[in-house]
Amino acid sequence: MDEFVVRGGRRLEGSLQVDGAKNAVLPILAACVLTRETVHLHQVPLITDGENMGQILRTLGCSVVRDGSTVTVRADDLHTYEMPDRLSKQIRSSIFLLGPILSRFRRATVTYPGGCEIGLRPIDLHLTGLRALGVDIREEGGMIHCDGAKMHSGEVHFDYPSVGATENVMMASACLPGVTRIHNAAREPEISDLQGFLNAMGGCVRGAGGHTIEVEGRPALHGVEYTPMPDRIVAGTMLCAAAITGGEIDLKRAPVSSLTAIDAKLREMGCRIREEKHRVMLSAPRRLTAFSKLQTSPYPGFPTDMQVQMLALLTCARGTGVIVENVFENRFTHAGEMSRMGASILLSGRTAVVRGVETLWGAPVTARDLRGGAALILLGLKAAGETRVARADLVDRGYDAIEDKLSALGADIRRISSGE
Ligand code: UD1
Repeated sequence: MDEFVVRGGRRLEGSLQVDGAKNAVLPILAACVLTRETVHLHQVPLITDGENMGQILRTLGCSVVRDGSTVTVRADDLHTYEMPDRLSKQIRSSIFLLGPILSRFRRATVTYPGGCEIGLRPIDLHLTGLRALGVDIREEGGMIHCDGAKMHSGEVHFDYPSVGATENVMMASACLPGVTRIHNAAREPEISDLQGFLNAMGGCVRGAGGHTIEVEGRPALHGVEYTPMPDRIVAGTMLCAAAITGGEIDLKRAPVSSLTAIDAKLREMGCRIREEKHRVMLSAPRRLTAFSKLQTSPYPGFPTDMQVQMLALLTCARGTGVIVENVFENRFTHAGEMSRMGASILLSGRTAVVRGVETLWGAPVTARDLRGGAALILLGLKAAGETRVARADLVDRGYDAIEDKLSALGADIRRISSGE
């Protein structure tokens, strides 16, 4: 397995274009199953979660072809409603296929999904949502069997605004006669992007970005060319990379309006940030100042997917800061690895208290999940000497060639095969 070798101490400077968002692309790929016509998606990052989703679609009978950053999907030959076991376990987003497959076959079988080891991640809300649409669901031997013979539009209430469950119900209901209302829907920008995609296919979805989404079912959806939104977490990670090195960055094709929570924290840490329509420019002080508190919560709150990168920034900031993780229960797993590099982090349940230190040193460390891996790279950019981050494969799930992006900004980072 590959690892990243980072030599710290360089100030990052330069400009970068943000790729399409993993969390927008994955549900959109699933939604391609809703039409028999061809879909062209542009600016699709080359990340393993996306490639695995493509592979699942192929196993179901779709044609999925990549040409540069354009991916073309055609689902006219879809021949099975049973999702492949091994691949589904690898990515959690395979669960989104339940909605689209039910829409096509009125049946679906899926194994319990996989994904990052960041918490329990149950799927009860997905199943509650589908049951509210009349789907009969049997869970048996690790498999979920869905019978949608009696599917209908309806009222869906979520106890918690789950991103994936909201998307699943939007897709399941896109072609059901009548109006489906999703109450306490997730409000993440990727939900609005999925609405944009479904509507571009001839669907009729309103309200994304708010608490209630209305889906007016259409008998059929058509093919489309679509460019998923740029990735706010990749953009945030790159802002952090510049910030931790006291550098400057000019992000092009940035999802500006969805970065406000991240920008606010970076400003609190002393960074100067200027925004234009699709552009964010950050200039960092030589040493960051700790913010007093950060709490993650559903959008528009601070995104859990940026929490560990901010933890990395705090480890070397001036002062002491507190982070409370409210979304996933297991998202401080990298604190131990960071301590090996000199960080001072005190953990208690969902809270981390971080006392910033002046010097971090390079060490061999191991990524345990996607965002944590990126955070260890950030620390490596700051630390003196060499940091080796094992399990590059976890970072590749959601960052398209992160080492090339950081090198282009002046970082000393390369990828090697383990044992090299
Ligand atoms: C999506 C994102 C992920 C991000 C997360 C929260 C994708 C592909 N992934 O994941 O990067 O970290 O949103 O912003 O878009 N929950 C339940 N039951 C369910 C579903 C979720 O209890 O049926 C809980 C989860 O355990 C978690 C919380 O709800 O504690 C948030 O999960 P959810 O919003 O569903 O996240 P995902 O869609 O899995």
